[in-house]
Amino acid sequence: MSQRRKILVTSALPYANGPIHLGHLVEYIQTDIWVRFQKLRGHDCHYVCADDAHGTAIMLKAEQLGITAEEQIANVKADHEKDFAGFHIAFDNYGSTHSEENRQYSEMIYKRLQENGHIASRTITQAYDPEKELFLADRYIKGTCPKCKAEDQYGDNCEVCSATYSPTELINPKSAISGATPISKDSEHFFFKLPEFTDFLKDWTRSGTLQPEVANKLAEWLDAGLQEWDISRDAPYFGFEIPGQSGKYFYVWLDAPIGYMASFKNLCDRENLDWDEYWKADSEAELYHFIGKDIVNFHALFWPSMLHSAGYRKPTAVNVHGFLTVDGKKMSKSRGTFINAAAYLSHLDPEYLRYYFAAKLTASVDDLDLNLEDFVQRVNSDLVGKVVNIASRTAKFVQKAGGELSSDVADTELWQKFIDAEDNIAELYEQREYSKAMREIMALADAANEYIAAQAPWSLAKEEGNEQKVLDICSLGVNMFRALMRFLKPVLPATAEKAEIFLGETLSWEDKLNYRAGAINKFKPLMMRIESDKVAAMVEDSKQAAAEAMQAAATPAASGPLAEEPIAEEINFDDFAKVDLRVALIKQAEHVDGAKKLLKLTLDLGGETRQVFSGIKSAYAPEDLQGKLTVMVANLAPRKMKFGMSEGMVLAAGPGDKEIYLLEPHSGAKPGQRVM
Ligand code: MSP
Ligand code: ZN
Repeated sequence: MSQRRKILVTSALPYANGPIHLGHLVEYIQTDIWVRFQKLRGHDCHYVCADDAHGTAIMLKAEQLGITAEEQIANVKADHEKDFAGFHIAFDNYGSTHSEENRQYSEMIYKRLQENGHIASRTITQAYDPEKELFLADRYIKGTCPKCKAEDQYGDNCEVCSATYSPTELINPKSAISGATPISKDSEHFFFKLPEFTDFLKDWTRSGTLQPEVANKLAEWLDAGLQEWDISRDAPYFGFEIPGQSGKYFYVWLDAPIGYMASFKNLCDRENLDWDEYWKADSEAELYHFIGKDIVNFHALFWPSMLHSAGYRKPTAVNVHGFLTVDGKKMSKSRGTFINAAAYLSHLDPEYLRYYFAAKLTASVDDLDLNLEDFVQRVNSDLVGKVVNIASRTAKFVQKAGGELSSDVADTELWQKFIDAEDNIAELYEQREYSKAMREIMALADAANEYIAAQAPWSLAKEEGNEQKVLDICSLGVNMFRALMRFLKPVLPATAEKAEIFLGETLSWEDKLNYRAGAINKFKPLMMRIESDKVAAMVEDSKQAAAEAMQAAATPAASGPLAEEPIAEEINFDDFAKVDLRVALIKQAEHVDGAKKLLKLTLDLGGETRQVFSGIKSAYAPEDLQGKLTVMVANLAPRKMKFGMSEGMVLAAGPGDKEIYLLEPHSGAKPGQRVM
């Protein structure tokens, strides 16, 4: 192996307001494969990540769930870590941006930016929710599109006609949080003077740090001129307060990338690594950020500029990937293609997806499609049909011959192909051209299978005298399988582990591929085929989960009826059955002399009549009620009132006054029928 490299790798920090889904996993799988490859090659590679725990969305989410922000981020972190482990994403450290280390780094970097004169402050006017007492980001304002007049559109763009505008142009704007009409309010904000970094960025973005298409995009932005970056937010906010500025917080995107440093600090403390060696301005270590194309500006403009000003090294490269589509379309909750990591894992093996993504991933920023039919076919035909098949067809003959691989290479030309392919495959991993690497590997698997089919050891074995030949052929078969598993180990860590048990060795990639003789263990099936009904069940689950989540969101706990009156203590069925509810026909409804709130109702229960005084006068005129059906409590003890006996109660909902809503059964119900 050439020189041992020191490499620090990050994936973007997922927000702590929702679960990991298959879209996220494009990134974490891409990064994990790269890191595993580097480690297999013997380099000092460290992979860190963290939850991105700050911001308004997380604060509101916690509020909606009726828990503290700290509880919210703790719950989500546990879920995220479980999902990542489920997909064999092997972080060396998984931290949180809401940590003491991150606060310290954030304050320190901010101070340095300030000392260098890179922070400005000025008063700006923003939309403000007077009810919720909160400044409103554009996505928290909704109203009618000024162009096409579509209702219920976000503050910055219309989903119907794709117009973009500023929230002040919206017709009839409302806060998406409280429904209040936003007002304009002034507040002092702090800005990072990004334009001062234009020349630095022009160099940095062109110095091989970015894919060409990303560098081109940035050149456009740089030519158009950069704006100062607003890095402060007003209370209430969940984040770090800006030192010396009470009520002002760092915008989440200021401390988020610093979270890479903080998470790495955790690792350094635990494993005695030298943090400075990786972050000092003249560091010789390599630093790579893997991110999605939606957050390029943060990683290729703001972050390198911050690092530059604060006296730290810049990233060696920012590796940008595209977005996941499912069956050619954006992931969709209603179609069931917005699939959470947990939903996938309850039906399918994580390595299927790792392989499928690897088979599709390139070094470009192109979007990548998970075609569910192709997924089943590809995994079954490549992994089960080609790779695993080589071992299952040959291992048993080695076993029969005593369980020792022979040292004679039965076909040196074929074996040479495997040796020759190795450097190329390694280079393809290094360049993140996984799709090409998988193609190379499967071409080798095809060659191996053709050889085995042509040699047909199962036929040879039927005749006596062929023992050595059969053993030689099958030993080559096992060695080819062994080479393939070594090449696939970054993608299929769990299958590789099973293969290692079978082969009785650890597959490393530190030295050149060699032909191995000697003992192997009994072969056990390594991987099952995907059944397509499992995929269908996963989609069905996701559809259902999305529908349930929609319902839950429709009844937020922080305000509304449930918050005002929580659900009463649990009762058993017998308790409930004591209440005799009956369908009743309102035969007559009359005003009561001297009663401000009451109407007198004469209710027909289909044979018996009851007289009930009901406090619904503020909401109903008597003539609107006559002839309608409603529901009454028929066995409530009669109560003597000022105006006469009240023999039961009709059922109604609502807070009172004009908002009283009498219950009415669907048509077809008959007076006297019991309601259960
Ligand atoms: N919290 C920020 C990142 C801060 S990094 C200092 C964030 N979080 S995220 O949860 O929205 O996204 C995390 C990563 O997943 C991002 O790199 C994002 O591009 C990626 N993806 C999220 N959805 C995706 C797809 N549908 N497809 C591919 N990648 C996607 O952004
Ligand atoms: Zn519109």
